[in-house]
Amino acid sequence: MEPAVNSPPAPTLAATDYWQGAAGDERTMARNITAFDRCVLVPRVLRGVTEVDLRTTVTGGEIGAPLLVAPMGLQALVHPDGEAAAATAAATAGVGFCLSTFSSCDPADAVARAGAGLRWFQLYLMRDPEITGQLVSCAERLSFDAIVCTLDVPVVGRRNRDRVYGFDRFTAAPPALVRAPWFEAIAADRGLSPKALLDDVFPHPGCTWDELAATIASTHLPVLVKGVLHPDDACRAVRLGAAGIVVSNHGGRQFDRSVSSVEALAGVHAAVGEVVPVYLDSGVRAPAHVAMALCLGARAVLVGRPVLAALAEGGETGVVALLHRFVDELGHIMRIVGAATTGELTGVQVLRA
Ligand SMILES: Cc1cc2nc3c(=O)[nH]c(=O)nc-3n(C[C@H](O)[C@H](O)[C@H](O)COP(=O)(O)O)c2cc1C
Repeated sequence: MEPAVNSPPAPTLAATDYWQGAAGDERTMARNITAFDRCVLVPRVLRGVTEVDLRTTVTGGEIGAPLLVAPMGLQALVHPDGEAAAATAAATAGVGFCLSTFSSCDPADAVARAGAGLRWFQLYLMRDPEITGQLVSCAERLSFDAIVCTLDVPVVGRRNRDRVYGFDRFTAAPPALVRAPWFEAIAADRGLSPKALLDDVFPHPGCTWDELAATIASTHLPVLVKGVLHPDDACRAVRLGAAGIVVSNHGGRQFDRSVSSVEALAGVHAAVGEVVPVYLDSGVRAPAHVAMALCLGARAVLVGRPVLAALAEGGETGVVALLHRFVDELGHIMRIVGAATTGELTGVQVLRA
């Protein structure tokens, strides 16, 4: 039977478009990838690289390869096992994992499932400092290795695919945060539903550098900042005590005329790379992209949507397979270009076509 004209799209299609999509006409999402694909490496020969060592020291610990799973909220929209599966897969593959403020899965459950793998907690600074403080306490209580404070969502990006469906992500998949007893208690105190409280406190367009500084000062955990593209912003964050910078444009989900992350990397690295580690995400689709980012100074990279695609298709096993492929191919590239360690990749020249 023909589908009825104008019938609402199936929710699963809306959910898939939610995680696959980006702001506006998705030019930035595409640019993130094409900017990588315009880069080429200049391999060196006779370096005697018989073994490669991919281990990398990152903020909060060591990982087996310079990769982390990027913080991505609401993974129940992708797979019922969501963040717990992705975090466990990262630990199995020996890489890092970053849990979103808006995780579908209770952070304690993700931590319990993932075991000893390196884990970062992504934090949004909320319009209410009490709630930001509670989130920081949660990261400390659950022994996260670092906090990643995302700064590039003063307002939520306008994503055409979501507009077409009229998709409201927090209604379709409420994050675990709204079920946290402390969050419910604050909502009840204010006579609000937890969802109404969430809409009240996020996003926080008036957020200031002082609020970032207060958060950094409030915790013993190292605080990275994510979503920084301008070298001056990176310098300012470092002056306030940021332990590292994640160069990112949120995978193009925020602004559809943004510089790509790999275009911004060299400038940020030149500004603060001697002082703190610089990381990158947005547009990493191939192990060669990881190598390029490392050649340009990144300490490690965060992988976003490819992990969700693997999760959608194969759950935890799918994500393990993806991460193993990245690790294996990155080792192969290092042999070809003549780098025995990830640090030696910084000596490999990158040309841009
Ligand atoms: C579905 C989805 C949800 C995301 N949620 C968050 C989030 O909660 N916090 C955050 O800092 N970044 C979030 N991001 C951005 C990612 O951390 C990362 O910057 C981006 O996915 C990298 O781009 P890539 O997907 O092209 O690799 C999200 C991205 C996607 C695709």
